[in-house]
Amino acid sequence: MSIFREKVCVVTGGASGLGRALCRQLAAYGADVTVADLNAEAAKGVMQEILERGGKATSCHVDVTEPTSIEKLVNETMARLGRLDFMFNNAGITVIGEFRDLPLDEVMKVLNVNLKGAVNGSHYAYQAMVRQGFGHIVNTASGLGLAPGPTQLPYVMSKFGVVGLSETLRYEGLDLGIRVTAVCPGFIQTSLIENVRTFNASPQDVISQIPVKVVDPDEAARLVLRGVAKNRAIISFPSYVGILTFIYRFFPGLFLRQSLKSIRAFRKIRKEADIMKIT
Ligand code: NAI
Repeated sequence: MSIFREKVCVVTGGASGLGRALCRQLAAYGADVTVADLNAEAAKGVMQEILERGGKATSCHVDVTEPTSIEKLVNETMARLGRLDFMFNNAGITVIGEFRDLPLDEVMKVLNVNLKGAVNGSHYAYQAMVRQGFGHIVNTASGLGLAPGPTQLPYVMSKFGVVGLSETLRYEGLDLGIRVTAVCPGFIQTSLIENVRTFNASPQDVISQIPVKVVDPDEAARLVLRGVAKNRAIISFPSYVGILTFIYRFFPGLFLRQSLKSIRAFRKIRKEADIMKIT
C-alpha cells in the first residue's frame, strides 16, 4: 500500500495487540513509525523488531490520559520529522462486569484511557494537521461503539464517544484537508481479551462466553490499513459487527432479546460472594 510509503505515523498503544500489528505493517509499507505506549519497554521491543527488519521506527513512553504527554509526543514528532501524516489513537483498556458491581473509579479509568485518550490524541494531532494542511486521524473505537452490549458499560460509553468524535471531526476536517476514520472491530485476539479484567466473574468464564470467532491481530491490522487507504469513515469487521449494528438500528426488539440473553448468560457465571472484587 504505497499510500503509507515515507509517511510519518504515530501509533498509541503500539506496544501490543492491534497497535503492534499496525506498527509492523506500517513499517513494512515504508512508513516512519513512532511506537508510543504506557509500557515503554514493550514499545522499545516493537521498535527494535522493526529496525532489525530494515524499517524506520522510534519508540516512546506516552500516557494518553495526560494531555501534556500527547502534546509532547506530537510536538517532538513534528520537530524531528517535520510533519505528521497519520495519527492512530489506538490505546485502550476494558473491564467486564455489571454496572452495579463496578466501582466508579474503574468506570472512569476506562473513560479516561479510551475516550479522553482519543480526545487528547485527536486534539493535538488535529492542531498540527490543520497547520500543515493535511493528515489522517484514525481512532480505534469498537463494534461496541456502534451497538451496545451489556456487562461492558464503561467500554461501550467510551467507544460510542470515540465514534461521535471521529464522525464529527471528519465533517469539520473535510475542507481543511484532514481525514478522520473510526475503526470498529469485533473481538481481536490480544491481551485485552487474553488478560481481560473482570468484576465478579472469572476471566476464563467470560472468555468462554465469547460467541464468535476472534480475529488475529495481523489480519485486523491489514483490514484497518486497507480501510484507511480507502479513507473509510467507519471501518468495521468481521461481518457480524455490521449485522448487529443493522439489527440494533432497525430491529430494536430483536436486539433487546439478544441483549437479554447475553446478560442472563453472564448472570450464570457472576459470583455474588466476591462482590466488588476485580479479577
Ligand atoms: P492490548 O491490550 O493488546 O493493547 C493496548 C495497548 O494500549 C497496550 O500496549 C497498553 O500498554 C496501551 N495502553 C493502555 N493504557 C494506555 C495509556 N494510558 N497510554 C498509552 N498506552 C496505553 O489491546 P488491543 O486489543 O490491541 O487494543 C487496541 C485497541 O483496539 C483498543 O482501543 C481496544 O479498545 C480496541 N479494540 C480491541 C478489541 C479486542 O477484541 N481486542 C475489539 C475492538 C476494539
